[in-house]
Amino acid sequence: MDQLALVQQPMLELSEVAQDLTDRYMSSARDTLVKLIGDPKLIRPDRLARVPGSFTRNLLFGDERMGAWALVWSPGARTPIHDHHCSCSFAILSGAVREISFTAIDDSRAVKTGEVLHRAGYIASMIPTGPNIHQMVNDGTDEAISIHIYGYDHRRHRSSVHREYQQVET
Ligand SMILES: [Fe+2]
Repeated sequence: MDQLALVQQPMLELSEVAQDLTDRYMSSARDTLVKLIGDPKLIRPDRLARVPGSFTRNLLFGDERMGAWALVWSPGARTPIHDHHCSCSFAILSGAVREISFTAIDDSRAVKTGEVLHRAGYIASMIPTGPNIHQMVNDGTDEAISIHIYGYDHRRHRSSVHREYQQVET
């Protein structure tokens, strides 16, 4: 058996451990979001910063491994089209936020592939290796609040955004 073949088995075992850790973290992030949106004492909307026509990030927790933010989406708020350099789990605490999905055609342009309106109680988790180019929009008339847990150190990175895209038609 050649060297490459001999290396396969221990590498497969290591890859399995990495997957187990990822699965545990993503599952725990979801459980944490369930707690955060299920107990009105934990997130106090009246204490969160908000900006008319935009979205505002309120840091709830951050260390070298992860950070949690409450985002307040005023009516008309809209992110750029973007993807992430880290894991991203989020839950809608109140109101509704539309998520528009895209597929990249190169490093700066993307085409729309779908959209869904997420209402209060919705929870999602994404790992960075999956395709996840999206835009979040509050196109309703009421404010919305979402809780986001990102797998990055907020003191070392400006945000969770990896790259921004311009929308093009097919
Ligand atoms: Fe995002």
